[in-house]
Amino acid sequence: MTKAFHTTSSADTEQATMPWWKTATAYQIYPRSFCDSNGDGIGDIPGIISKLDYLAGLGIGFIWLSPVYKSPMVDNGYDIADYQDIAPEFGTLADMDTLIAEAKARNIGIVMDLVVNHCSSEHPWFKAALASEDAPEHDYFIWRNPRLGRNARPDDLQSSFGGPAWTYVPELGKYYLHQFAKEQPDLNWSNPALRAEIYKMMNWWFDRGIAGFRMDVIDLIGKDVDAGILAEGPQLHDYLQEMHRETLAGRDVVTIGESWSTTPQTATLYCGSDRKELSMVFQFDHVKSGWDPKFGKWKPKPFDLSRFRKTFFDWQMALSDDGWNSLFLTNHDLPRQVSKYGDDGEYRVRSAKLLAIILHLMKGTPFIYQGEEIGMTNARFEHLEDFRDVELFGHYDQAIADGQTHAEFIAGANANGRDNGRTPMQWSGSEHAGFTTGIPWIAVNGNYPTINVAADMANPEGVAATYLKLISLRKTMPIISLGEFIPFSISETKVFAYARERDGQRLSVVANFSETEIVYDVPEGLSGLGRCLIFNVQPRDQIAKQIRLAPWEAFAVLSE
Ligand code: GLC
Ligand code: CA
Repeated sequence: MTKAFHTTSSADTEQATMPWWKTATAYQIYPRSFCDSNGDGIGDIPGIISKLDYLAGLGIGFIWLSPVYKSPMVDNGYDIADYQDIAPEFGTLADMDTLIAEAKARNIGIVMDLVVNHCSSEHPWFKAALASEDAPEHDYFIWRNPRLGRNARPDDLQSSFGGPAWTYVPELGKYYLHQFAKEQPDLNWSNPALRAEIYKMMNWWFDRGIAGFRMDVIDLIGKDVDAGILAEGPQLHDYLQEMHRETLAGRDVVTIGESWSTTPQTATLYCGSDRKELSMVFQFDHVKSGWDPKFGKWKPKPFDLSRFRKTFFDWQMALSDDGWNSLFLTNHDLPRQVSKYGDDGEYRVRSAKLLAIILHLMKGTPFIYQGEEIGMTNARFEHLEDFRDVELFGHYDQAIADGQTHAEFIAGANANGRDNGRTPMQWSGSEHAGFTTGIPWIAVNGNYPTINVAADMANPEGVAATYLKLISLRKTMPIISLGEFIPFSISETKVFAYARERDGQRLSVVANFSETEIVYDVPEGLSGLGRCLIFNVQPRDQIAKQIRLAPWEAFAVLSE
């Protein structure tokens, strides 16, 4: 028999005592593309402030704000020239203080992006380092002499953005390391004075009222360059523990560690409850599993549900007792999820809802990337000149040299390139999607007259309605934040199914990951009577032993 379910959490002490970020949903803002307040074509902080009511309406708990610091913008702000100032195109420190205060007034925390594996070559530290080998800042960076006799690079390490990771400075007769663009010199974390500067800066931001940090490529800080160990190097966890002692201890904040290298085996080193390091890891197994071994993201593999599902299930199981997952399908470095994993044509709305349902009902903190909540799609640019991303231009020549054709590269960029997520937020059907009154820095997706916030929010069956519901369910139902994860149907080629269990309740989640109607033989343990919490096609209050699933149908049933 179906019983009434508990909608309040007050009786649940475990939920009541757990950290706030375990019931919160995050929303990532890429400031350049969110909302432009002054018509220069570039999104800015006053623009974000003007949309806080919209974000509060969705019910989000915190904003991950991609970098807004002073920067020459070689990598759109991931190259920081002053950690304690704001880029003029984004606003001022006063604007930032207003954003923090106005967000707080709406119960929204601001989580800043901490980019400290590297800074900008325009940072005064790097300028001082270039000016004199005797300057203390010289040792804030990583220098190596040319290889003896050959005046060649210290080794063949390649930068993530293409080309060598070592750049020669003729005046000094040596090379510096940069794992990203040459304008992003790596910082030398083995220097204690540098680390102290970073901790001081972090505390300065905490004292201004931010709710935490998302830590950019944090797995790279503990490297041993000479041993060739860059990711998850020998010093990584010592530094994170020191950072915790010096900045995080005693503060009720959230920390999210971006790590492209962590595995289900190493994740709890970052976020295990006894580690005193980070709140959660932000890992990419589901993303990397879809890339070509030789050409990487520029040559996507066809989607394979089994492979994709396995990465999620493995991570759910690995962090079931300790540690904490970030749940996401997309961000500013990735394609739009409905284009990548769903159907951005006929079933755009339905498949966008399916992706939201399967992701948000897993264990972890879900992250929504701006525009995802209305089912925004990939850009589909035709020419190389339409793109803006430094990574893409850095890889183009290499890909062509390695034998990819121009057309193949453009197709790869349209499938997986970072600019897909960076086209302006589509607010309305008016010119430039209501993002700017000027000329946007990157083209607006041509589908904005139909896909935009105003249209989606006006429709009770829009994508955002599903997000609103998921965000509010997470806040009130401990089974979503804390329930045990139980994988189902791991050899089905079209169905993504799992259950969550807690205190005698079971939440069953079923999704048809395909554009065809299918008959699904429901496994023991997933079938039964209950109450439908959320759906994208039809409400179902019972899961029979065999059910017919419509294309891209998803639903969740709670039973007790
Ligand atoms: C991270 C960021 C990405 C940036 C890179 C270098 O992966 O998400 O946007 O380019 O680090 O900072
Ligand atoms: Ca602007």
